[in-house]
Amino acid sequence: MDAQALENEAKSAIAGAQTLAELDDARIRYLGRKSSLKQALREVRDAQTGSVLNTLREGLERAIEERTAELQAAALELRLSEEYVDVTLPGDASPRGHLHVITQIRREVEDVFLGLGYSVVDGDEVEDSWHLFDALNMPPGHVTRSPLHTLFLNGDIVLRTETSPSQIRVMEAQDPPVYIVSLGRTYRRDTTDATHSPIFHQVEGLAVDRGITLADLQGTLLHLARALFGADRRVRFTTDFFPFTEPSLGASVSCFLCDGVGCSVCKHTGWIEMGGSGVVDPNVLVNVGYDPEEVSGFAFGLGLERIAMLRHGIPDIRMFWDNDLRFLRQF
Ligand code: DAH
Repeated sequence: MDAQALENEAKSAIAGAQTLAELDDARIRYLGRKSSLKQALREVRDAQTGSVLNTLREGLERAIEERTAELQAAALELRLSEEYVDVTLPGDASPRGHLHVITQIRREVEDVFLGLGYSVVDGDEVEDSWHLFDALNMPPGHVTRSPLHTLFLNGDIVLRTETSPSQIRVMEAQDPPVYIVSLGRTYRRDTTDATHSPIFHQVEGLAVDRGITLADLQGTLLHLARALFGADRRVRFTTDFFPFTEPSLGASVSCFLCDGVGCSVCKHTGWIEMGGSGVVDPNVLVNVGYDPEEVSGFAFGLGLERIAMLRHGIPDIRMFWDNDLRFLRQF
């Protein structure tokens, strides 16, 4: 066997291998068990031949190692250049949501009352008829106790039609003085149209203390109206009726668009209705164990959708529920 010829042939095959697979083929061909070198080594009878062949074997093994390192480095180099990421390219912005317009109004109203020292309390959307009706001085035959108006879940259990039962829950749980607002969802068996939705939101307010009068109610609602609709607003009270207040008052705010002159927003009256209010009926105080000779209070309830619709000129209450981002993104 011509060791020199074999070495030349093997070394050029090793140097010529362009991939690790080709290199492995060369290794098998020249150093594998069936290679002529390995066979010759097995048949070696004299030390001199053995030493020549072993030197050849070691030389080829080293050449393969070196070529392996070269090919691996080249492969890495290729990947690094091909898989190059241009970190200066602009990224894909992930869209960021924001609070629903009703939640924004809700928080704004909460902030106004927190600023006046009130507490914000949660009410229950599912109520019993004591808290929704009886304790609020609504007799058994009252019209909203009809299943045509109110969604009854199970016997005596109802979806609240107003946030007013929060008043009862708070007063049952604590002694006066009370200064709270409670905001949340209310449910009525109404057919949906531009101004009605079977689910909507209210803010309920209640203040009970020694010596509370109608003047405190008027001042508080004026403060709220100005916070929501502008510092120049005036508030007007009209007579109304609610079973749980005596006297009961409707509260209107001077139109923020025409300032009382008359326009389409205020239906040419100069005034926009905000909601109901009044002096807490003594029967309600008795129902929760308060002494109407000791304390008195005022209460009010306003619709949050209505505030949002007025503030932003939103023409249809259904838009709050449509989940159309073109609408929601505007607020
Ligand atoms: N609960 C009434 C409604 O849904 C609004 C209301 C009126 C709440 C007078 C009050 C109040 O607390 O004193 O129409």
